[in-house]
Amino acid sequence: MSGPLVLAFETSCDETAVAVVRGRKVLSNILSSQVDMHARFGGVVPEVAARAHVEAIRSLTHRALGEAGVHPDDLDCIAATRGPGLVGALLVGFSFAKAMAWSKRIPFLGIDHMEGHLFAPRIDFDAFQPPAVVLLASGGHSQVVLVEDWGDYRVLGQTLDDAAGEAFDKLARFMGLGFPGGPVIDSLSEKGDPETIRFPRALPHRRYDFSFSGLKTSVVTRLEKARAAGVLPRREDVAASIQEAIVDVLVQKTMNAVEDHRVPIVGGGGGVLANRRLRTRLQEEADRRDVGLFLPRPIMCTDNAAMIGAAAGFRLERGERTGWGAPVDSALAL
Ligand code: KG4
Ligand code: ZN
Repeated sequence: MSGPLVLAFETSCDETAVAVVRGRKVLSNILSSQVDMHARFGGVVPEVAARAHVEAIRSLTHRALGEAGVHPDDLDCIAATRGPGLVGALLVGFSFAKAMAWSKRIPFLGIDHMEGHLFAPRIDFDAFQPPAVVLLASGGHSQVVLVEDWGDYRVLGQTLDDAAGEAFDKLARFMGLGFPGGPVIDSLSEKGDPETIRFPRALPHRRYDFSFSGLKTSVVTRLEKARAAGVLPRREDVAASIQEAIVDVLVQKTMNAVEDHRVPIVGGGGGVLANRRLRTRLQEEADRRDVGLFLPRPIMCTDNAAMIGAAAGFRLERGERTGWGAPVDSALAL
């Protein structure tokens, strides 16, 4: 496969990720997760994250280049996530990448993290092409995006409060299940009955927007009442009921967009798309409408640098460059 040879960094949150890609082909994809470091605080601590990125980034870069069998002098470009994310964490990968590109006299590209997630299905599937509707759901964002062409995105709807991943994380923490909450709720739900409690599905009359704060309130009040009455439901059943409420809404809004915009293809990206129930439900609904569904492998759904590299390769070939003086942007929006 052809395309530019890119070294890419992703340090927007709690994973230090480095990858080497040629076009859409992944030559190496390395990840050092800080989950254990943050778990005891019940969430990501920004200063701890930034410091851990600093400690890990050099050796991960050596490993990524080594595994890819690539010499730094052969690189066409170096890229890093520019935002959105934690400013201190972003700065580590962004500055490191920029300094390295400067020293090699090759182009540098700062990439939107969410555009990276949009490129994840493209890494895994040749047939994933615009026009498409893509559901992006992560710890910080939930969006339904119309991809009219590569580089041409329309955010049709998004969360008005918590992101889907954030809802999973907060509810898992409330139930004392640990951090991050999505994977725990996913596996507990396997042994639970999703019809145990019918939690509310918010904003039924909005075509594409989400809201998860009502769900949060409802879970808290239901469980507190049950606890006071001494009739606490099995946590597997609560987990499955929560998961079903979140998945229902994500699937519904995505399919609304597929129908309204008559696209033949639907895709997904972001950590929440690793959720097994969500993947199954999206497949069922895509099949019913006879549209192609392209979901990246779970490790390509969660944060990684290969997706940043793939997006950077596309932008480089369009002649784009990020200036040496460009800052990170913690609130960057698609
Ligand atoms: O995209 P991502 O790795 O990082 C951000 O950009 O935020 O997404 C992380 C989010 C977390 O909220 C995590 O709980 C959620 O994705 N997540 C899941 C699953 N795996 C990760 N949510 C539901 N089910 C999963 N299996
Ligand atoms: Zn992400």
